[in-house]
Amino acid sequence: MNFENILIEESNGLATITINRPKKLNALNRATIEELNQAFKDLERNEEIKVIVITGSGEKAFVAGADISEFAHFSVDEGGRLAAKGQEMLFDFVENLSTPVIAAVNGFALGGGLELAMSCHFRIASDNAKMGLPETSLGVIPGYGGTQRLPQLVGKGKAMELIMTAGMVSADEAKDCGLVNYVTTQEELLPLAEKLAGKIMRNSSVAIGAAIKAVNDNFKDGVDGFQTEIREFGNCFGTEDFKEGTTAFLEKRKANFPGR
Ligand code: COA
Repeated sequence: MNFENILIEESNGLATITINRPKKLNALNRATIEELNQAFKDLERNEEIKVIVITGSGEKAFVAGADISEFAHFSVDEGGRLAAKGQEMLFDFVENLSTPVIAAVNGFALGGGLELAMSCHFRIASDNAKMGLPETSLGVIPGYGGTQRLPQLVGKGKAMELIMTAGMVSADEAKDCGLVNYVTTQEELLPLAEKLAGKIMRNSSVAIGAAIKAVNDNFKDGVDGFQTEIREFGNCFGTEDFKEGTTAFLEKRKANFPGR
């Protein structure tokens, strides 16, 4: 499929998605959300792809939010549908992807941009990055999962402060409060993402997919994550990856996981 708003590069098991609307600071319009949905679906199905990195084009922004020009005149119903559809197509979709997704936050990650980064399995940032949920300054609240995922990552009090003040935190502040795992220079951001991806790729992709499911279930209402862990743990014993991993350990060699 040809995309207009995103670029995809694939090499050695790593796919890098770049949101490519730099003139609009990579704001997420409907077309971009649809393209991202398609791209993530395709990449998850592609057995060669073991890790996905998502970043923004240009030096200024990861994503400066949902595209305000698209929803400024929406009604109550349209607003509700915008949030529901976006959550289903992109934000929940990314969070529940079995392929690990790293957000490489290379500049502003605001509103829907921070919500997208928070949907990824973890985040790294360049030192110029600025992150926040400015929605209340527009008379609205975060609608792509921000009120739920921000408290999960930084705690309720800090999340309340960030949402109520509509303020931004620097990359270092984001690291201090657990929003991002590492901060580096802009030049080193994608190399760091690749390095982390390389470490992930050494491990069983089947086990990683199961771990994502178990960790996510900790945060789902009415779902017992411990039961998910027990089930997924048991399922691992039926995989070729488990046989290879344990055999390689006993034979004192590096595992070569088939990913099945
Ligand atoms: N939606 C639509 N367009 C956006 C956008 C968004 N979320 N964020 C930036 N843009 C557009 C601007 O309208 C501008 O377009 P133009 O050149 O056609 O006028 C272009 O991107 C560049 O942005 P600009 O505001 O001129 O850059 P800046 O360096 O002065 O400011 C920001 C950068 C990020 C502080 C500012 O763009 C901003 O506050 N954006 C909105 C952030 C936001 O509220 N996001 C949450 C949305 S729910």
